[in-house]
Amino acid sequence: MLNEMMYRPVVMPELVEYMRTAQAKFPGQLGQLEAFANELGIPIIPHETAKFLDFFCATIQPKDILEIGTAIGFSASLMAQHLQLDGHLTTIDRYALMYERAKENFAKLGLSDRISIIEGDAAEVLPTLSGPYDLIFMDSAKAKYIEFYPECMRLLKVGGVLVIDDVFQGGTILEDEADRPKRVRKIHRKLNELHQTVLNDPCHRSCLVPLGDGLLMVRKEG
Ligand SMILES: C[S@@+](CC[C@H](N)C(=O)[O-])C[C@H]1O[C@@H](n2cnc3c(N)ncnc32)[C@H](O)[C@@H]1O
Repeated sequence: MLNEMMYRPVVMPELVEYMRTAQAKFPGQLGQLEAFANELGIPIIPHETAKFLDFFCATIQPKDILEIGTAIGFSASLMAQHLQLDGHLTTIDRYALMYERAKENFAKLGLSDRISIIEGDAAEVLPTLSGPYDLIFMDSAKAKYIEFYPECMRLLKVGGVLVIDDVFQGGTILEDEADRPKRVRKIHRKLNELHQTVLNDPCHRSCLVPLGDGLLMVRKEG
């Protein structure tokens, strides 16, 4: 018998709306930062992804976190709340304005001692880092994920987790490259390469999570 659920979109718009409204807002200044970014259209993770990261970090209680793609510091501030006492979060952004804004926000939230922000292109910064990290959150230019993937795996502790955001391209990732507008073909090709590489990597455990525009999670195995 056909399982009709297999042929339905996994996340219906009503459910997306539900995930965004039924799950409580974050209290205090973190909630204000999320609301501010959403009002101004600053690209931060959607609320359902934020709730997932909040839950995940509370569960794994990371000591060291690396983030690629800071924007104004919302997801970094969210994750930093869960750092162990002697833990630290390092976040990278190449856009000077974002760097300045994030720095201000970390100070406002009293997180300046717990978060270091590096201004620069992750392509140049990643090879200079030695980690190791319990959690890496990659939320930057999508076409570069495949290039950063080996560096992220190098920087993870065994048992550490890499979370990659926005891997479905609004669901168009499954279309033929030729059917995609020319301007997005490179991202399309590189994201497909990332899926192929990660999902067929026999060395590490991975899974896809249909939250926001899709999360690809990889656990570094021994
Ligand atoms: C979607 S935003 C990050 C949102 C943030 N993680 C949050 O949810 O609060 C992506 C950020 O990645 C930065 N970025 C993109 N490509 C990058 C690269 N190659 N190196 C460093 N930063 C990059 C952009 O400047 C932008 O601020």
